[in-house]
Amino acid sequence: MKQDLIAILDLGSEENSRLARGIRALGVYSEIYAHDITESELKAIANLKGIIINGGKNDVVDGLKIAAGDWVYDLGVPVLVIDHTRGKKAQDWDTIPECDDEMCEQLKPFIFDVCQAEANWNMKNFVADQVELLRQQIGDKKVLLALSGGVDSSVVAALLVKAIGDQLYCVHVNHGLMRKGESEMVVEVFRNQLSANLIYVDASERFLTKLEGVADPEQKRKIIGGEFIRVFEEEARKLDGIEFLGQGTIYPDIVESGTKTAKIVKSHHNVGGLPEDMQFELVEPLKYLFKDEVRACGVELGLPAEMVYRQPFPGPGLGVRCIGAITRDRLESLREADAILREEFANAGLDQKVWQYFAVIPDIKSTGVKDNARFMGWPVVLRAVNTIDAMNASIEEIEWPVLHKITNRILAEVDGVNRVLYDMTPKPPATIEWE
Ligand code: XMP
Repeated sequence: MKQDLIAILDLGSEENSRLARGIRALGVYSEIYAHDITESELKAIANLKGIIINGGKNDVVDGLKIAAGDWVYDLGVPVLVIDHTRGKKAQDWDTIPECDDEMCEQLKPFIFDVCQAEANWNMKNFVADQVELLRQQIGDKKVLLALSGGVDSSVVAALLVKAIGDQLYCVHVNHGLMRKGESEMVVEVFRNQLSANLIYVDASERFLTKLEGVADPEQKRKIIGGEFIRVFEEEARKLDGIEFLGQGTIYPDIVESGTKTAKIVKSHHNVGGLPEDMQFELVEPLKYLFKDEVRACGVELGLPAEMVYRQPFPGPGLGVRCIGAITRDRLESLREADAILREEFANAGLDQKVWQYFAVIPDIKSTGVKDNARFMGWPVVLRAVNTIDAMNASIEEIEWPVLHKITNRILAEVDGVNRVLYDMTPKPPATIEWE
């Protein structure tokens, strides 16, 4: 790696990812490290230009007060302590009380004048570094990639095609939890337009059977993640000499799956769901990128805008939006309602404006009337959120006529539904997905 680096020592602040992102937005690479990183580990980081110790409000984890070691201040690298109230105060530097939107501006003098870091973090360098690293890691071996067609896996595919060409085997697993028309589109774009090696597997029945009666969200994720790997292993056995598995893991997946100080928010499909007997070595070239950086990487690689700016779709797919134990009829209604939402958002130009929008069907029924008779039906919940990095999100304020149109269409066209609701909750406290 050629770029300069600012290390953030994690004392549990929820602001750390925003801080890292903000520093990267200034053109300087930044990564978050556990607060108890050892002296030799920290010294081994190439081009370390500065250290930020960010305590935030959560310096007590599981009843223990945590702090960075005193040796950090004697490394000969400038140290900035955010929050006066703990630890030693760094030399020549004032305290920044809170992480806010002006933080980047406030950090500039520390990063550029005190640390003398160079703004040499950009996607061109990132892609060049990754292509080199991928070639070193993979050699003449073959890689199997889970290609969901979402932004992350598409960018990984493009990076790998650039690095290793036809040593890459993309596998698209239709787990029965895809959105309407999605698998067809993946085949069209990757097989026909990009000429990638693409294997299409329809495993819908297998997934839905495994998921029958399973209501616990973590359990559902683990089943879906686990089955995914098994399907890949079966495909790998049909191919000769596959040793690597490509994954679209990104930085928020890693941060949210639990650094030493952050509590587990959810075990993400790409991290926590892997079975222990996994046979592959992982290739995860996007694991230090935030979502907006992944898109920039896609642009750098020349992917079409429709693909790069497409809304994200979680690995477990509609499985985390068909709340509780998945049933085939409710899943089908969800797929239809989601397709209507997407179509009407596109008609209203909202697909260009809103970061992520989808339908959810909880596992409850409420009373309604149909043909003069009582009719117990599901509610469809619509959710539309905006975010930069998926760590914090606000809701989109949709015009009433658009909501009315979507509501009327869902009630008229989707089986089993008798109510439509709009989810007003930002993240936090809610996560973007319902499960
Ligand atoms: P949450 O619900 O954690 O979602 O606020 C943040 C973003 O991540 C997506 N997401 C996932 N993506 N595997 C994925 O690949 C997952 O298990 C998963 N869970 C959530 C979610 O759609 C949102 O964009």
